[in-house]
Amino acid sequence: MTEPVRLVDALERIESEGLASIEAADSLGVLEELRVRYLGRSGELAGILSGIGQAEPEDRRAIGQAANTAKRRLQEAHTGRQAALESAESAGVSKADLTMPGRRAWEGGVHPVTRVIDEICEIFRELGFSKVRGPEAETEWYNFQALNIPLEHPAADMWDTFYLADGVVLRSHTSPVQARIMETHEPPVRVVVPGLCYRRDPFDPTHAPAFEQIEGLAVDETIDFIEFRSAIQYFVQRFFGLGRRTRFRPSYFPFTEPSAEVDVSCGVCNGFGCPTCKGTGWLEIMGSGMVHPAVFQAVGYDPERYTGYAFGMGSGRIAMVRHGIPDIRLLYEGDTAFLSQFIS
Ligand code: FA5
Repeated sequence: MTEPVRLVDALERIESEGLASIEAADSLGVLEELRVRYLGRSGELAGILSGIGQAEPEDRRAIGQAANTAKRRLQEAHTGRQAALESAESAGVSKADLTMPGRRAWEGGVHPVTRVIDEICEIFRELGFSKVRGPEAETEWYNFQALNIPLEHPAADMWDTFYLADGVVLRSHTSPVQARIMETHEPPVRVVVPGLCYRRDPFDPTHAPAFEQIEGLAVDETIDFIEFRSAIQYFVQRFFGLGRRTRFRPSYFPFTEPSAEVDVSCGVCNGFGCPTCKGTGWLEIMGSGMVHPAVFQAVGYDPERYTGYAFGMGSGRIAMVRHGIPDIRLLYEGDTAFLSQFIS
């Protein structure tokens, strides 16, 4: 009685092992080896069946039925797996190493300069400034004369640019939008103006021929230097952090009087001096000043009644200061390996 029981057990074991192996076969070659091993003429099933003659006649029926069931199931599994592997091969994925980690999907992000622009505009929005834009192709009048820069004055060289047509230039700063806004709006005015500017500058570590600026302008009846200074200091602490100090250095712009360059204390050395701030402890972030009465006159505002302040900063330079980027060209080369560091 033990013989048929052992044969049926052996058949069940062969069937379950064979089904698992066939299901796991990852190539047609492996599958063929399994077919020969389990279903071939000298395979494991055939080996069992060859011993059926020694079994009791009344047990042969049960053994034969178990053998047929195992054979049918193994054949069906083989046919199914073969079809799956053939279709994978024709789709070109048969050689895929399924154990390899997948490639990370490309993740886009906001460019660090765009993020700087958005954050600055948001801080000034909270202070009551609206965001406006102006044309990049600008007339000489708005780019220079309305800003108290006579074309023949040497100061015009500071904003030299590309000439498109007679009297039309690519704007070399966002300050022309000051004049455009004041011409069309009565005070009080509080605006920020992000936008591209163009200059005849070389593409070097600190200059780009096309770069982003953000202009700011506030005009009202009672604005004084203290309000101007407070607004800028508030901005610096919001944008760079509470520990950062602000310094106003006397400067010259034809469209502001008095004029000042604004510096922020170096975040790397906390103002002690290091290579990032070239040993000075300070990093320049903007040109600024109180709006010159000649600009008010050019746009039709009464300079006796209104006062205001204006500032202009380079968004790329601000991004450099913020992230300690040594070369502005890195921001504009579109190198995703570099830029992906800033995806938060
Ligand atoms: C101006 O353009 C003035 N319009 C700013 C201003 C506005 C002063 C309102 C007063 C009142 P300046 O030329 O310094 O100033 O440029 C301002 C900032 O633009 C610079 O501090 C710098 O951050 C950035 N910038 C200037 N030229 C380039 C350039 N070629 N590449 C990248 N950034 C530049």
